Amino acid sequence: MASQGTLTPFITPTVKINRLFESPHIEIYAKLDLLQLAGSTKERTANGLIEELLSSGKLRTGGMIVESTSGNLGIALARQCVVRGVNFIAVVDENANPIALELMQAYGATINRVETPADGNKLAARRRRVNELLEQNLGSVTTNQYGSFANPRAHCNSTMPEIIAGSGGNLDYLFVATSTTGTLLGCQQYIRKHGLDTKIVAVDSVGSVLFGGTTGTRRLPGLGAGIVPELAASAEPDLVVQIEEIEMVRGCRLLARREGILAGASTGAIVSAMEKLVPTLREGSRLAFMVHDSGVPYLQTVYNDQWVRTNLNSESNMETLVEVDEPSDQ
Ligand SMILES: Cc1ncc(COP(=O)(O)O)c(C=O)c1O
Repeated sequence: MASQGTLTPFITPTVKINRLFESPHIEIYAKLDLLQLAGSTKERTANGLIEELLSSGKLRTGGMIVESTSGNLGIALARQCVVRGVNFIAVVDENANPIALELMQAYGATINRVETPADGNKLAARRRRVNELLEQNLGSVTTNQYGSFANPRAHCNSTMPEIIAGSGGNLDYLFVATSTTGTLLGCQQYIRKHGLDTKIVAVDSVGSVLFGGTTGTRRLPGLGAGIVPELAASAEPDLVVQIEEIEMVRGCRLLARREGILAGASTGAIVSAMEKLVPTLREGSRLAFMVHDSGVPYLQTVYNDQWVRTNLNSESNMETLVEVDEPSDQ
């Protein structure tokens, strides 16, 4: 197939890892989507959403996209808009990672910041602002990552087939972090379409309202939701695991120290969820998980002891966070 240059998402490696847990009888595969040009799985989502708008004629070269994003979709849309000659306004809230905003701006995006409303629902406030901007900018469109089926389709057509090809298939469990639930839903669609036995584990944040969760403070971006997105109505994971932010930090640091993979908070949550499940699994179980994004934009949060102490109130846990035991030889 002819290369499309920097337009289409890359086929990222799916690698077998064996140093993360002391579980020599479990096979674990990591899908390295942190290697996408935009640094995350959202490269696929952004590409799918824009393709849909272009092919339906709703968006043309020289047009404008307005989207609510807490970080990664914004970075990916900003990058995709560069290569497609489209303008981009990212509507963000104060949870947004400052480095993510700098990345978007480096790609030429305009940042529109929403204050936290009295009810604390940042996601709803961002969606209101998107609608205002669409009214103000004639001919502008939103990609609607929360409701567009182009979002899961991108993952049904690329993420899951690549995981199967890279791992050899026959997976017992797939671990995916959830926000719009687009990645999960796309993988679920592929699994059902092909009659696979793979169970999907949805990894969410404590404080997210997805899958019946109760709203609460969330400081780390990437996973979780303040209101239930339309897509989530079709998401039917086999298991839902809600993870505390301090556990995400621990998961990230484990992955970095044991496997040399520097990932973001949602992948840390996945590592923590796998750590809980692995001891319960039968010998020979085969697992795959998404490495959704790079840890570089989290150096000042997840990987910064001072930030963790101050924001996650974790003085007593710092020893276990910083001193990661060496796993025994496998
Ligand atoms: C860091 C991160 N975590 C989790 C996800 C899954 O998000 P969603 O449920 O919106 O597909 C993504 C998707 O790209 C991501 O970039």
